[in-house]
Amino acid sequence: MLLTLLVSVALGALAGATELFDRNLAYASPFTNAIHLSHDTRSLQKRHVEFVKRQSQLDDTQSSDGLTDEHYPTFYGGDFSSSPFIYNGGINFTHSVASGDPLDTSVLLWTRAVPIGSQLPDQSIPVCVTFRIFNNANLSGKPVDSGSAFTTYDVDFTLKVEAKNLKPDTHYSFQFADCTNPKTVSPVGTTRTISSPDTAAAKVNGGKPLTFAVFSCSRYQDGWFNAYGVAAHNTSAEIFVHLGDYIYESLGNGAKIGRQTLGRELATIADYRLRLNQYRTDVSLRDAHQKAPWITVCDILLRRDDHEVADQAWKAGTADSNDTAVGCSFSPSGACFTDRKLAAVRAYHEWMPIRQVDPDDKLRIWRNFQIGKLLDLTMLDTRQYDRDITDLYYNTVINSIADVTNRSLMGPEQESWFYNTLDQSKERGAIWRVVGQQIVFTQLNESDAFDVDAWDGYRANRNRILDHLYDNKISNTLILSGDSHANWVSDLAHPNDTTTYDPVTGNGAIGVEFAGTAVTSSSPFGSGVSPANADKQSQVLVGVNTDLQWSEGSYRGFFTLTLNTTHANATYFAMRNISNANLDGFASATFIVKAGANKLSRPVAGGSVLAGVLKNQG
Ligand SMILES: *[C@@H]1O[C@H](CO)[C@@H](O)[C@H](O)[C@H]1NC(C)=O
Ligand SMILES: *[C@@H]1O[C@H](CO)[C@@H](O)[C@H](O)[C@H]1NC(C)=O
Ligand SMILES: *[C@@H]1O[C@H](CO)[C@@H](O)[C@H](O)[C@H]1NC(C)=O
Ligand SMILES: *[C@@H]1O[C@H](CO)[C@@H](O)[C@H](O)[C@H]1NC(C)=O
Ligand SMILES: *[C@@H]1O[C@H](CO)[C@@H](O)[C@H](O)[C@H]1NC(C)=O
Ligand SMILES: *[C@@H]1O[C@H](CO)[C@@H](O)[C@H](O)[C@H]1NC(C)=O
Ligand SMILES: *[C@@H]1O[C@H](CO)[C@@H](O)[C@H](O)[C@H]1NC(C)=O
Ligand SMILES: *[C@@H]1O[C@H](CO)[C@@H](O)[C@H](O)[C@H]1NC(C)=O
Ligand SMILES: *[C@@H]1O[C@H](CO)[C@@H](O)[C@H](O)[C@H]1NC(C)=O
Ligand SMILES: *[C@@H]1O[C@H](CO)[C@@H](O)[C@H](O)[C@H]1NC(C)=O
Repeated sequence: MLLTLLVSVALGALAGATELFDRNLAYASPFTNAIHLSHDTRSLQKRHVEFVKRQSQLDDTQSSDGLTDEHYPTFYGGDFSSSPFIYNGGINFTHSVASGDPLDTSVLLWTRAVPIGSQLPDQSIPVCVTFRIFNNANLSGKPVDSGSAFTTYDVDFTLKVEAKNLKPDTHYSFQFADCTNPKTVSPVGTTRTISSPDTAAAKVNGGKPLTFAVFSCSRYQDGWFNAYGVAAHNTSAEIFVHLGDYIYESLGNGAKIGRQTLGRELATIADYRLRLNQYRTDVSLRDAHQKAPWITVCDILLRRDDHEVADQAWKAGTADSNDTAVGCSFSPSGACFTDRKLAAVRAYHEWMPIRQVDPDDKLRIWRNFQIGKLLDLTMLDTRQYDRDITDLYYNTVINSIADVTNRSLMGPEQESWFYNTLDQSKERGAIWRVVGQQIVFTQLNESDAFDVDAWDGYRANRNRILDHLYDNKISNTLILSGDSHANWVSDLAHPNDTTTYDPVTGNGAIGVEFAGTAVTSSSPFGSGVSPANADKQSQVLVGVNTDLQWSEGSYRGFFTLTLNTTHANATYFAMRNISNANLDGFASATFIVKAGANKLSRPVAGGSVLAGVLKNQG
C-alpha cells in the first residue's frame, strides 16, 4: 500500500516532469530566468529519475539488485534496494508555517520539512509535502486549494507554494502534511487575502477597519522578539509589514540573555540559512508568521550598495561557486561582496514567504498592493536596489554631495515607477497611499548631525518626491519607516519650509511619516537608555526639528496602523523587557490622521503620550 503510493507519486513526478519541484517556489528563487544562478529543476528531476529507475527497475535493463554506484553514495551505503525514492522516514516541520504577499485570490504558504530518523536520505531524494487550505478554522469540508510539492537539501528543505483560487478579503487556515504519512502534519497557520482592487473603500475588510502591524530591525542577540508576539497575540493586526533588518549579518554577544548567535559573520548561503533558521526559532516570531500574512522588504546589510558592483555580479554569474573560495579581501570570510549579496538574497527568498516580482529583475523587491479602494500599500527598496553611494564608503564626502540633484536613493527606474504608482493610486480613487520603506524620510538634526545614510543623504531625491506629492495634489500619503531604532512621528513637508508648513497647526503638510523603533536593535540614544534619559534627548530633538511632532528613544517595539475610509490610527507599542521571552507591552502613543487633512490631527496624539516627548505637550 505504502509502496504503491510511493511508486504512484514517483511516477506522477516522472509523468509531470518537473511539476512537483516547480510547485515549490523556493527553487525559482531568486532568479527564474538565470538557471546558472538558481536551481535547474530539470536537472534535479533528472537526478531523481535516475534514482527512481534504480529503485523501481522501471528500465528492463536495470536492476537495483546488487547495484553499486560510487557517484551516488548514500547513507545506506552502495546498496540502494531498501532506500526510498521519496523520503518516507518521517519529517519534522521544524519552523512551523508562514504566509505572505497576499493578493485578492492567492497567497504564498511556507513551511520547512526536514527529514528525521536514523537513516537520513541521500541528497537526491526529495521530501514530498502536501498542503491544504480551508475557509474555516477547523479545516473541515473540502479544501479550497491543495496540492503536493517536493523540497530537498538544495533549498534547505524550505517549501513555498502559491495557494490559488481563493476569494478576496477572506480568512483562511492552512496545513502541510507528509505525502508518505498524512498523519504527520504541520501546525495550522491562519492567513487572509486582500480585497480586489475595485472593491469600494467602505467594503474593504467587510467594512471593518484594516490593521497592519509594522516592524523593523530585529537583532537576535539584542533581545527577545516579544514585539512580534504582542502584535500576534494582543492586537487585531491582520497583515504584518516588515521594513527591513529582519536578520543581521554580524555576530555580537547575546549570551547573557540566552541569545548567542550561531555561525559567523554571514557570507555564504549556508551562513545566511543558519542565521534565518536560528532567528525563526524565536517563539514570538514563529507565532507572528503563523498568525497572519507578511509583506516585507529586505534590508540585508550590505555595504557598498553600488549598482556597478551588483550589476557586474549578475553578469559574471559567479554565484555559488565562489562562496568559499578566497577571492576578495572584502569580508573576513574571504567571500566577495557580490557573492554575499547573492547568497543573502537567495536564502532570504527561500525562508521568506515573499513573491518574486520580476524574474528578470533579480533584485527587485519593490512592489505595490492595491487593497480595494481603501489603500495602495507601496513597498519600496531604499536600501539595495539601485542606490547611489552611501555614507559608509565615502563617509567624508557625502555631506558635500548630499544635495547633488542627480543622486538617487531609489534608482531612476524605481523612482519613476514610484511616481507612476502614486499617480495611478490617486487616479483609481484609492483613499490612502501607504508607503513602506526602510529609512527615515523626514529631515532630522540629531545632535547637530544629519543621518546621511537615511533620506538626509539623498535630499534631491526626497525633494522630488515631495514636489511630486505637492504638485500633483496627491493626498493621504503615509510613509512608514524603519531602520533608525527609535520612534519619530512627523508631518510631511519640505525641510526648513515654515512658509508653507506650520508646525503648530500642521497646515501646509502633504502627509505624515510614521517611523518605528526596532523590535530589539539598540537605541541610537544609547544602548539600554532609560525612558527618562531618552526623553531628555527627545526634548531637544522635537525642539530643533520643525516637522518632528513626537520622539521616543527608549522602548523597543512596533506600531500598528489601522485604516478606514475616514481615519488612520497609528498606535505605538512599547515592550517592557526584552531580556526574556514575554508578552508584556503597552500602547505608548496613538496618532490620528483624518482623510484629506494630510497632517497629524491636533492636538497631536490627543495631547498626551505614555512615553517619549511631543513637540507641543498637552
Ligand atoms: C523537530 O524540530 C524541532 C525544532 O528544531 C525540535 O525541537 C524537535 O526536537 C524536532 N523533533 C524531532 C522528532 O526531530
Ligand atoms: C467547523 O466550523 C464550522 C463553522 O466555523 C462549524 O459549523 C462546524 O461544526 C465545525 N466542525 C467541527 C468538526 O468542529
Ligand atoms: C569565481 O569562480 C569562477 C569559476 O567558478 C572563477 O572563474 C572566478 O575566478 C572566481 N572568482 C573569484 C573572485 O574567486
Ligand atoms: C552627477 O553629476 C555630477 C556632475 O554634475 C557628475 O560628476 C556625476 O558623475 C553624476 N552622477 C551620476 C550618478 O550621474
Ligand atoms: C541641530 O541641533 C543642535 C542641537 O542638538 C543645535 O545646536 C543646532 O543648531 C541644530 N542645527 C541646525 C542646522 O538646525
Ligand atoms: C535646513 O537648514 C539647515 C540649517 O541651515 C541646513 O543645515 C540644512 O541643510 C537645511 N536642509 C535642507 C534640506 O535644505
Ligand atoms: C473610522 O474610525 C474612526 C476611529 O478611528 C471612527 O471615529 C470613524 O467613525 C470611522 N469611520 C467610519 C466611516 O466608520
Ligand atoms: C487607535 O487604535 C488603538 C489600537 O488599536 C485603539 O486602542 C484606539 O482606541 C484607537 N483610537 C482611535 C481614536 O480610534
Ligand atoms: C528584565 O528581565 C530580566 C530577567 O530576564 C531581569 O533581570 C531584569 O531586571 C528585567 N528588567 C527590568 C527593567 O525589569
Ligand atoms: C497578551 O496576551 C497574553 C495572553 O494571550 C497575555 O498573557 C498578555 O498579558 C497580553 N499582553 C498585553 C500587552 O496585553
